[in-house]
Amino acid sequence: MTHRRCVGVMGLGHVGLPTALGFAELGWTVVGTDSDESKVAAVTSGAPPFFEPGLEELLRRHLASGRFRALPDVGETVRQAEILFICVGTPHCEDGSADLSQIEGAARVVAENLNAYKLIVEKSTAPVMTARWMERAVRRYDDGRHEFEVACNPEFLREGTAVQDFLHPDRVVIGAGSDKARSWLCELYAPLGRPMLITDLNTAEMIKHASNAFLALKISFINMVSDLCEAAGANVKDVATGLGLDPRIGSHFLQAGLGYGGFCLPKDLKAFIHLAEELGVNFALLREVERINQSRIERLVGKVQQALWVLKDKRLAVWGLAFKPQTDDIRDAPSLNVVRRLRQAGASLRLYDPAAAAEFRRVFPEEPGRLVYCASAIDAAQGADAVLVLTEWPEFREMNWRQVRECVALPIVVDGRNCLDAASLAAEGFEVYRMGEASPAPKEVKV
Ligand code: UGA
Repeated sequence: MTHRRCVGVMGLGHVGLPTALGFAELGWTVVGTDSDESKVAAVTSGAPPFFEPGLEELLRRHLASGRFRALPDVGETVRQAEILFICVGTPHCEDGSADLSQIEGAARVVAENLNAYKLIVEKSTAPVMTARWMERAVRRYDDGRHEFEVACNPEFLREGTAVQDFLHPDRVVIGAGSDKARSWLCELYAPLGRPMLITDLNTAEMIKHASNAFLALKISFINMVSDLCEAAGANVKDVATGLGLDPRIGSHFLQAGLGYGGFCLPKDLKAFIHLAEELGVNFALLREVERINQSRIERLVGKVQQALWVLKDKRLAVWGLAFKPQTDDIRDAPSLNVVRRLRQAGASLRLYDPAAAAEFRRVFPEEPGRLVYCASAIDAAQGADAVLVLTEWPEFREMNWRQVRECVALPIVVDGRNCLDAASLAAEGFEVYRMGEASPAPKEVKV
């Protein structure tokens, strides 16, 4: 019988927890830990500290199967594990570079608790050379007493589908410097039966950063095409379909709208630009990608102004706060800047999101009469001069527009994600403003 290696996971966030439970699902014994004890306590009680479809079920299953345990003691996790995945956060510093302090902290804890050979795996997204730095840090703090190796196995998990992405990946990328490290990692992922790409450390790190930068580029590209469609009288959705049918382009990530947000694309793009500059490579293309993305906010606010002229004291329903559907995450969500901008303009806001309202409230506390949180989309629409859609939650697509029409003050919708069915809205007499389409002619007002 082959020896079943114990897998350790440091960091139980959006990457670490799905990874830990994914390995448990594949049959491995996994111990996870986090420097935030409240996270460990929540996980131990069977409640993931954030919303992610399918995660709670998987957590309960593997707490029960005994294949997953969360340990409050980080050192104990290191000592128990033979393969250790580092899944801590890599936010960005003010200058755009990646803040690697959590990775460095993890490397120190690992060094202080080495008790036998360990394979330390960088899973967090970090710039090229991070694995090399980790190696140096561990060696320094362990003082050369134990054998270890550092490998890189970037994650490609999307929030909202992280469990599915772990269990059905398009590819598994393994950057490693020895046969032993390569074979351990291949064995770990073998049950998935998916293509594995084996590279060196720097290449694996580069693949991850380049992937996120390319996704951001695709989104900004279609958003510029969207502006062009608007000016020229073409339909961006059909243009995207036409582009996507060419397999060399592909249909994914051609959804025009309010632009990309979240904890990954914006910060990874910044870090990639910073890395290029540090290495003396002029990657100005990516600066433009960022600029285009930032310009989406004004583009949307401009549409609200086209519809309502002055925004002061206008009552606006804001549907969708999460940076994308199926998550309660609002980090770097476009909604943050849209709400900030609309408040500056003096509008009164009625906010609704199926999952992210509690998180949003921490940034924008309720202000009676000016900014209120509503229990449903219909509630938010009560008396609204316009309904703004900032996240494409499926329930917005399935709204009963007759019911919405009966409760709004004016039948105006600004669809920041081009996700609503234009025909059902038109049937109820709504004036609809979409990204990448010429604005409707304002309705004549009878006097
Ligand atoms: C992203 C990558 O897609 C994952 O592969 C990667 O593993 C992850 O970052 C990470 O580095 O951890 P995620 O941030 O969860 O995943 O979300 P995406 O699905 O990439 O969406 C990012 C943003 O782009 C969202 O705000 C979404 O609304 C926007 N988007 C996406 C568009 O505006 N248009 C599109 O066509 C697609």
